[in-house]
Amino acid sequence: MSRQCVLVLDFGGQYNQLIARRVRDAGVYCEIVSYQTPLDEIKEMQPKGIIFTGGPNSVYDETSPHISEDIFTLGVPVLGICYGCQLIAYLCGGKVDSCEKSEYGKINIDRTGDSLLFDGVPDSSVVWMSHTDYISRVPDGFTATSRSADCPCASMEYPEKGIYAVQFHPEVTHSQYGEKILQNFLYNVCRCDGDWKMDDFIESSVEALRSKIGNKKVVLGLSGGVDSSVAAALLSRAVGKQLTCVFVDQGLMRKDEGDFVEETFTKLFDMNFVRVNCQQQFLDKLKGVTDPEEKRNIIGEEFFKVFWDKIREEADGGFFAQGTIYPDRIESGKGKESGKGSTATIKTHHNQVEPPEDIKFDAIIEPLGDLFKDEVRRVGEKLGIPHDLVWRQPFPGPGLGVRIIGEITAEKIKILQEADAVLRDEIRKSGIEDQLRQFFAVLPDVRTVGVMGDHRTYEHLIAIRAITTDDFMTADWARIPYDILARVSNRLTNEVEHVNRVVYDITSKPPATVEWE
Ligand code: XMP
Repeated sequence: MSRQCVLVLDFGGQYNQLIARRVRDAGVYCEIVSYQTPLDEIKEMQPKGIIFTGGPNSVYDETSPHISEDIFTLGVPVLGICYGCQLIAYLCGGKVDSCEKSEYGKINIDRTGDSLLFDGVPDSSVVWMSHTDYISRVPDGFTATSRSADCPCASMEYPEKGIYAVQFHPEVTHSQYGEKILQNFLYNVCRCDGDWKMDDFIESSVEALRSKIGNKKVVLGLSGGVDSSVAAALLSRAVGKQLTCVFVDQGLMRKDEGDFVEETFTKLFDMNFVRVNCQQQFLDKLKGVTDPEEKRNIIGEEFFKVFWDKIREEADGGFFAQGTIYPDRIESGKGKESGKGSTATIKTHHNQVEPPEDIKFDAIIEPLGDLFKDEVRRVGEKLGIPHDLVWRQPFPGPGLGVRIIGEITAEKIKILQEADAVLRDEIRKSGIEDQLRQFFAVLPDVRTVGVMGDHRTYEHLIAIRAITTDDFMTADWARIPYDILARVSNRLTNEVEHVNRVVYDITSKPPATVEWE
């Protein structure tokens, strides 16, 4: 696929994926690569532009990530952001010093000269800053194009050499004209065509998949999550019945979810769909087990056992496909971007698994390996996957297993499924669903005394968990209005058998996690 590409050089900043997503949103394909990528490799990729990210270091630290100034001789425009901006100043002979007063948060900047980068941006605007060093002298040939009250150079450039740099973070939405500034870099400076469109992606992927797969078979593990569902739909469009999807229903999904997944994929898409129902097998393994980690391990191990056994039956050479997406590759360090000091190599990812050695495949296919989550969702919608599935909330691999505290039994699963369905229905009806990033019911291993009519009851407690978050690393408990909570509580105690009390979890993360186990 010959599409234009911008490279994001990763210097360890926390917003690196966000920069790449913003560039993609602007219609230009981009990849994140380590700052240690050799110049020859960068040249071979023929980027239309290069963006230096932020990073936690000071350019004068001995261990801080650096790059050869030869990068400026490639004839490719460069935009430096935050640390990237200071690095450019340093490499080109300017001076970087510690700020007397660090700038953090929303800061006003004023433009101090004409710039292609600020085309359409007012003379004064708000940007997001986060730095303790600043450029005290711009390098020869450069001009400062904006300033803030405490920082004489909030941006600088050397247009003849195609070098631009901003001290602030245009990728963060708090920067009022950040999107415009990035677009200006991509279109005014790098002269990109904007050829990254989801329709084109689908078309070219389908073609590439057809030519790779030929008349062979493909098997895909379908979890019912967004990524594997979209991968399944894309492969179905490419090769139809040559695709077999294996869906393991361990009986720990939400109410009716297994049926919904089966119905969606058998009715809407051309493929072989194999469902393995194995709740009892899981319950047998989990009998008497109460330790959270042990439960997780058993569920995980049993899942892969059932899954590979089925794949072994279905596989007939050919290909093994999975719904790996771009952040999975970055996080597991398996993309091109792994490198010392970069934000890569953080964790191995559940979306990427290796088939056991006795199952032979020609190759593993990851049709969504270049996409971010929001791009995957856009592709999913274009392929006709139902809205509820495309916009599904995160759901843990061990399913309701981590939301039933203590021993997992069939009865407890049923109570939790019913409770969760009522909560979901009420939140949807109340119109606040979009404001919650994730919400669900939990069944703690607690019974409490209640009264119903003239009778004393001794039944289960249901806890409600609802959070808001940007990234799931931290989360706040959602301020659901009392009247909605009251309706939920009322319905749970009236409609769900064996529930006589409801509590609302008002703990943020940290110190709590989102899930209870
Ligand atoms: P925690 O509980 O770690 O959850 O604060 C953060 C996010 O991750 C989801 N989660 C999981 N997702 N497999 C997954 O695929 C898991 O084992 C798992 N555990 C937690 C959780 O639902 C939340 O969105």
